[in-house]
Amino acid sequence: MSTPTSPLFRPARVGAWELPNRVVMAPMTRSRADDARVPPDLAARYYAQRAGAGLIVSEAAHAHPRGYGYPNTPGLETEAQRGAWRRVTDAVHARGGRIVAQLLHTGRVGHPSLFPDAARPVAPSAIAPEGLVRARDGMQPYVTPRALDIDELPGIAASYGDGARWALEAGFDGVELHGAFGYLLDQFLRDGSNRRTDAYGGPVERRARLLLESVDAAASAIGADRVGVRLSPGAEVNSMHDSDPATTFPAVARLLAPLGLAYLHLVDPAPAGAPFTDAMRAAFGGTLIVNGGYDRASADAVLGAGRADLVSFGAPFVANPDLVDRLRDGAPLAAPDPSTFYGGDARGYVDYPQHDGTVWADDEALLPARAA
Ligand SMILES: Cc1cc2nc3c(=O)[nH]c(=O)nc-3n(C[C@H](O)[C@H](O)[C@H](O)COP(=O)(O)O)c2cc1C
Repeated sequence: MSTPTSPLFRPARVGAWELPNRVVMAPMTRSRADDARVPPDLAARYYAQRAGAGLIVSEAAHAHPRGYGYPNTPGLETEAQRGAWRRVTDAVHARGGRIVAQLLHTGRVGHPSLFPDAARPVAPSAIAPEGLVRARDGMQPYVTPRALDIDELPGIAASYGDGARWALEAGFDGVELHGAFGYLLDQFLRDGSNRRTDAYGGPVERRARLLLESVDAAASAIGADRVGVRLSPGAEVNSMHDSDPATTFPAVARLLAPLGLAYLHLVDPAPAGAPFTDAMRAAFGGTLIVNGGYDRASADAVLGAGRADLVSFGAPFVANPDLVDRLRDGAPLAAPDPSTFYGGDARGYVDYPQHDGTVWADDEALLPARAA
């Protein structure tokens, strides 16, 4: 059942890239890196299986030594990490895809057990999230974070420039700054977690300053047309709270608008009616990727109405490596197994079959350079 009229399958120019379709793979942490935070060999196969996406956004990767909030998430700082990522990006490119690295500093979401010197995680203000966090040895209560000194903030922003440079060195096509889901940049944006009284707190223009300086560092390193930003105005995960998100986030989008970014990636769930989407589109003006609970029908509707330019899919890409083909052909979607989302091995990672029942696993075809 071919449906070539769906706007999902129209090519798109996004920043520096020509995309063959408008189906984006959303960033998904899979927690399979080793203790040196080097991505596993299987990551090349995992991402290559999904190279049919117009654009892949990688799982969150770290470029700042204090930015690691979870065990077994990958970095970009070391040669070994970049070498492993190079296998991934070569594999995606060999299959005709494009991939950007998501850059993450988790801020107050983290635990001293994750750092060799047992340091406390850092945050805009000394306010702990509620609940438990995944520490080195299982779930632990959050500790109160250390409020960052103003002198430390230029170094944090600069780490996004380092991350962008390292990402390109590792063969990525660009980067996405993770400004969503209650991590460091989001902690600065919202007044529930940012109680600073200096140049990085108070009115939204100041709360957005770290994000803007981080974007500037990344854009100066690799060009703004290879940099995207992710925001999640409605998400309250990780104890996020803002007194007026309907004002805060469009204001942030207006500040991002003149910077010439490749895209804004907005988490704004379709099943809830995507309540922030229209205001964010109007405020940003550039290429908008929307995310959150989309399926083929709701994706067609949001693109068809001109409310967004591309749609990203997360969980559906876990269990359907050939998601683009299935969406195009109207084939049924497999359901993912959440017990294998984070950590573990090949199971639930590279063993989901394509719609024809086969599991694509031709590792030789991924690495023409090695085979030669
Ligand atoms: C296993 C898993 C890991 C995720 N990791 C990340 C991440 O590293 N960075 C991020 O911005 N979002 C992450 N997300 C959120 C997804 O990118 C996406 O916003 C969410 O799954 C909603 O989209 P969906 O309904 O299409 O799955 C993750 C989601 C899942 C299911």
